[in-house]
Amino acid sequence: MSGADPATAFGVYVHWPFCLSKCPYCDFNSHVRHAPIDEERFARAFAREIETTAARSRGRTVSSIFLGGGTPSLMQPQTVGAILDAIGKHWGVGGDVEVTLEANPTSVEATRFRGYRAAGVNRVSLGVQALDDPSLKALGRLHTAREALDAVAIARSVFGRYSFDLIYARPDQTPVMWAEELQRAISEAVEHLSLYQLTIEEGTPFFGLHTAGKLKTPNEAIARALYDVTQEICTRHGLPAYEVSNHARPGAECRHNLVYWRGEEYAGIGPGAHGRLDIDGIRHAIATEKRPEAWLMRVEATGDGVVADDLLNSEERADEFLLMGLRLREGIDPQRYAALSGRSLDPRRIAILRDEGAITISTDGRLRVTQDGFPVLDAVVADLAA
Ligand SMILES: C[S@@+](CC[C@H](N)C(=O)[O-])C[C@H]1O[C@@H](n2cnc3c(N)ncnc32)[C@H](O)[C@@H]1O
Ligand code: SF4
Repeated sequence: MSGADPATAFGVYVHWPFCLSKCPYCDFNSHVRHAPIDEERFARAFAREIETTAARSRGRTVSSIFLGGGTPSLMQPQTVGAILDAIGKHWGVGGDVEVTLEANPTSVEATRFRGYRAAGVNRVSLGVQALDDPSLKALGRLHTAREALDAVAIARSVFGRYSFDLIYARPDQTPVMWAEELQRAISEAVEHLSLYQLTIEEGTPFFGLHTAGKLKTPNEAIARALYDVTQEICTRHGLPAYEVSNHARPGAECRHNLVYWRGEEYAGIGPGAHGRLDIDGIRHAIATEKRPEAWLMRVEATGDGVVADDLLNSEERADEFLLMGLRLREGIDPQRYAALSGRSLDPRRIAILRDEGAITISTDGRLRVTQDGFPVLDAVVADLAA
């Protein structure tokens, strides 16, 4: 798999926490505001937090930047430009840095794509979610399928690289319907697709409906069939999964997300952002204030919005490495796990999981989860980490 050299990869995640409306399935840190947002004030706060965070992580060269949300495509291009300039001013930035912006595929947002490219964005990730209007309506989306596909076409003409997201295992979706939708999606995708199974998140309107029996998601057998269809079609079209939900042509993986899954360092900037920084040889798990205006005031007063800065011990560090790394098709190097935790993975547990067909050990010694193991990944990780 390609991507930035893991030994030198360093990512910066920037969170824009606002959306035009709240989708009923979403539990991301996203907020709707009816008054205009003072983008200049936010841009100054982002720059300030970047400066403070860079002072704690000097000497890194940024290999990827991800502007996520919320809906970052609601930002004016000059706001994005100001954030990228601040990153370039306070950290070194690699010549081939990947700069991704998450965009909602409405026509208004697509008109800003050229401005984002001029500001330094070189990759977009579009939240298409479904390719038919009734499904989009049921998901509470503000765009039609036509509008989304038009935005994809604009992304294709403006950016060298783009990806889009679909949500599957939606209510009443059959494997045949999904197979058809997925093949259409692949014909629109050049190098990368994110395919998420609908998750019913606690506290969302979908959770309430689901609990009341008014929203029925596919049962386990259908969910498994949908997953298998996804793997089969994507592999056949040259977009194999490189992570549980992410598919790419070899070499076109999202380098920023690889930073998380390979357990490399990244800075988290903005409301509710998470970071992992190695300071004096110890890994810090850092989180910022989630509420946008409270984050803003905290940054203005103290220079950053940090509300949690936990030092991970070797066991926690190793467990996180396992949890994230096993999501990847490339798997993990068990020797790195042993070096982080101070103990090897239990060979008896490995043997049992291997006999069950949930994992494999390749000739180069890497431990990988199989296609049968991915649907029960949490149990596999729990077993190995025990
Ligand atoms: C941070 S969201 C935001 C992107 C952008 N705001 C949008 O909605 O188009 C990233 C992706 O997570 C996925 N997602 C969010 N909530 C989900 C859920 N409950 N189940 C499955 N996928 C979900 C969607 O595909 C979404 O595009
Ligand atoms: S637009 Fe995206 S981030 Fe905002 S509420 Fe919908 S899914 Fe969540």
